[in-house]
Order: sequence, then structure tokens, then C-alpha cells
Amino acid sequence: MNLASISENHDIEKRIAVTPEIAKKYINLGFNLSLPYNYGVHLGFSDEDYKNLGVNLFKNEEEIITNSEIVIQLGLPDEEKLSLFRENQTLIGSLNTFLNKHQLDVLKSKKINCFSLELLPRITRAQSMDILSSQANLAGYKAVVEAFKVYERAIPMMMTAAGTIPAAKVLVVGAGVAGLQAIATAKRMGAVVFATDVRMASKEQVESLGGKFLTVEGSENLETEGGYAKEASDEFKKKQEDLLTETLKKIDIIICTALIPGREAPKIIKEKMFENLQQGSVIYDLAAIQGGNTVFTEVDKIVKKNGVKILGEANILNKLPISATNLYSKNVFNFISNLYDKDNKKLNINLEDEIIEKTLIK
Ligand code: NAI
Repeated sequence: MNLASISENHDIEKRIAVTPEIAKKYINLGFNLSLPYNYGVHLGFSDEDYKNLGVNLFKNEEEIITNSEIVIQLGLPDEEKLSLFRENQTLIGSLNTFLNKHQLDVLKSKKINCFSLELLPRITRAQSMDILSSQANLAGYKAVVEAFKVYERAIPMMMTAAGTIPAAKVLVVGAGVAGLQAIATAKRMGAVVFATDVRMASKEQVESLGGKFLTVEGSENLETEGGYAKEASDEFKKKQEDLLTETLKKIDIIICTALIPGREAPKIIKEKMFENLQQGSVIYDLAAIQGGNTVFTEVDKIVKKNGVKILGEANILNKLPISATNLYSKNVFNFISNLYDKDNKKLNINLEDEIIEKTLIK
């Protein structure tokens, strides 16, 4: 089978779908792999690296698309490239079904099989394919690094002859994959860490990382069967607001990660809460692209409000694209291994398999 990937738009996406290490695995599995020249050069993967493994390199991306049965990407290719796809071809990536609904409807009507990996079920068998976890984990780490970079004080407690510097106090809002990694990273650097979430299951996880869990008084457990957060009631939101407003008086850095699948990010840090934050505090909002967890977040800008800096980026993974690519390309390989029928050398779109059924855009 002919498998391919084309270059991403590097202005918005630096990750790629196939590293040389993974290219070798596809070839060993029996695929013919085609890539454009310069595919991974920006990440230090040269054309020679791929060529030596038996990858076919092309100048013309149109040729690559038309001659392949499976195309693997990060984001959705542009309109012009998409128009080259034909019936029965398969496109796999992180296709963002909410943002790209129209383009995906068009592809569906042309009978192109589109698999979007952010739709993977959070089940044990899918863990090795779970792009949300692998990328969120890195994002949580990097958000802390970015926040600490602009924070103008030291993070760990330091006792010196000239006096004691207190440890920075970090609040992590949302203790899912990104939030838990943010807690672990901030702890490692010597911060005192607090965290909150609407899912009570996360309390134990926060505590096992050395964080202090802030429980909203009388909180109902807002977890769906799939392990995701539900929209909170107005009563819960009010109690959470009161608890956080009080807590913020002692907080220096906030890492926001709260998300509800398929919805705009909940606004958790409200305007009046800023009055309780100290000058020089920093907020890194990982939910920026989904609308932000603070009322002032703006994508790719550092907003200053009452002496507080609020940061948020469209794609923080572009700041560690090699690590993110290494994990993403492995996730996709594991997904394709499950989809591929080696004996008959064809894709087996078996809708009885929950992993395939959930990720296929219908
Ligand atoms: P996410 O990225 O959708 O959301 C981030 C966090 O924000 C979640 O913990 C959520 O509960 C929290 N949140 C939402 N609204 C909030 C609010 N108003 N206030 C405070 N916190 C709020 O979540 P993520 O990281 O994708 O994890 C979702 C679930 O999937 C979790 O239960 C996690 O344990 C589970 N999971 C399971 C895996 C597996 O078994 N294969 C792998 C990875 C995650």
C-alpha cells in the first residue's frame, strides 16, 4: 500500500507525522512511503535520513497525494490539496472536527475516509495511540516553563545569608493530563502547588504528585462515563469562584488547562478575581485557542491586566516540535498498525472496533 505525508504549513504547525524512526517501521510493515523533499529538515531530519531508509522523495506534493492510498498529517491540508483527494483514499490526522466541519463534510461526500485522532476513546487499548495525552503532557510541561520564564522572581525557596526567598505558589486549574504534568513540573522546580478540578477522581492524582487539591465545597462529581468533565451548574460555578477568589490572594502563577470536550473553554478566572492577584503574577492559559479560561486571554499575545501577565498561544507544541513529533508519529503508527490487515495488505475499516468506529468521521 502507498502511504504518504505532505508538508504542513510551517507558519502554524512545526510538527510532522513521520519521523525517520517511524518511516522505518512503516516500511518494515510493508508500506511504500512517499514524502516531499525537505519534509523534516526544519526539525533536523534530513532528506538523506529518509532516503537511506527507502522512502520515496518527490518535488511535487500533488503527485504524492494522487498516488497514495493513505495520507497522514497533523492538521487538515489546504483546500487546493484537499481537492486532489479521491474516493476510497484515507486521510489520518488531528483534523479538528469542530473547526473544520465544512471541509470534512465535503471529504465525506467524496467518500474519502477521514480519521481524526483527537476522537480516540480513552480506553486502555488506545493509550499507545492517544495523541491528546501525548501532546497535552508536553503542553502542560511547557506551559510551566513559559510561565516561569516571564515570572520575575525565583521559583524555589532559597535561604541565604541575605534573607529568605519564599517558594512561588502555583495554582493549576484543571487536573487532566496537561494539568497533572504541570503540577509535576512546577513541583520539580520547587514551587508550592495547588490544583482544582471538577472531577473528584483527580484529587488523588493531584495529591500523589505532592499538590494540594482545592475541593469546591459540596461539589458533585462532574465526570462523564468517558472520564471527561461535564458543564458545571451555576451553583457549582459560584462556589468555585468564591474558593478561587480567596485562594488567589496567595497565588503567584496560574496554569489554566480546563476544557470541556466540544465546547468553549469555561471562563474560570473572572475580571474581579484579578483584584486579588499580586502585581507581577503570571497566568499561562493553555485553553487560549478554545476561548481561554480567563476573561482577558488573547491568543499569541501577552496581555497585561492590573500588573498580571496573561499568556496563551495557538500552538504551544511548536515550542518543542521535536519531542511532540516523536510522540505524535508513534501514536499514528500504532493507530495504523491496528487499522492495517497485514495478511491481505489492505486497510480493514472494522466498525466493530471501538477505536476505528469512534475516530472515523461519519
Ligand atoms: P481535558 O483536556 O478535556 O480537560 C482538562 C481538565 O479540565 C479535565 O481534568 C477536566 O475535568 C478539567 N475541567 C473542565 N472544566 C473545569 C472547570 N470548570 N473547573 C476545573 N476543572 C475543569 O481532559 P484530559 O486531560 O484530556 O482528560 C480527560 C479524561 O481522560 C480524564 O479523566 C483522564 O484521566 C482520562 N484519560 C484516560 C486515558 C486512558 O485511559 N487512555 C488517557 C488520558 C486521559
